[in-house]
Amino acid sequence: MRKKVIAGNWKMNKVLSEANAFVEEVAEKAKINDSVETIVCAPYPYLASLVEKAKGSQVKISAQNMHFEENGAFTGEVSPVMLSDLGVTHVVLGHSERREYFAETDETVNKKTHAAFNHDLTPIVCVGETLEQREANETMNHVGNQVTKALEGLSNEQVAETIVAYEPIWAIGTGKTASSEDANEVCSHIRNVIKDITSDETAEKVVIQYGGSVKPANIKELLSQSDIDGALVGGASLEADSFLQLVEAGT
Ligand code: G3H
Repeated sequence: MRKKVIAGNWKMNKVLSEANAFVEEVAEKAKINDSVETIVCAPYPYLASLVEKAKGSQVKISAQNMHFEENGAFTGEVSPVMLSDLGVTHVVLGHSERREYFAETDETVNKKTHAAFNHDLTPIVCVGETLEQREANETMNHVGNQVTKALEGLSNEQVAETIVAYEPIWAIGTGKTASSEDANEVCSHIRNVIKDITSDETAEKVVIQYGGSVKPANIKELLSQSDIDGALVGGASLEADSFLQLVEAGT
């Protein structure tokens, strides 16, 4: 049985006091439970503080990006060594906003995925199609390629530990959710692609999340699907109450 993984991606939101108060509340209220993992993906400046606030609770702290190099002359960047040293456990890689606005490519996502495993960070690898690609029936091909390239060169054990987040770009922040059946169809395809490049056993272990306008009203239906093992949530993760409802739905 794969566990459910609910991750809140705050993106570029909140100030430190709000971030601390959120994690304190969720750390206190989210019941420790083996069937669900709770992750908060926060801006870099808050990570150290949030790791402290989350200690001893069910909440894990993730970064939203990182560089693939360990250190060096990369002004403004943050390395996997720094994140790992802080006690951060996860890192979001290849989010569509980073691909669109910050020149992230399949190649850099792959380098970052390797760097994450080299430094004990679990990557949450984001993939997804644009509306134009969906309308041109290119979804499966595009998403399959993104997954294959992101995971290239990893061992089967590393692939099994990777979290893949399927986020149709047209559903992000728009209020339009993919129907649970459509979302599941793509998540099943992702698992089949992973089977082809690794093994049946490995692919069955991979946690595949859906992301795109997930909210308390639609999460149960999404999580009831065969290949959707959790959610990567933007807007509905900004309030502790709503985030806690999403976590509760995963138990
Ligand atoms: O990382 C999260 C996704 O981009 C989804 O954002 O829940 O606001 O649509 P959203």
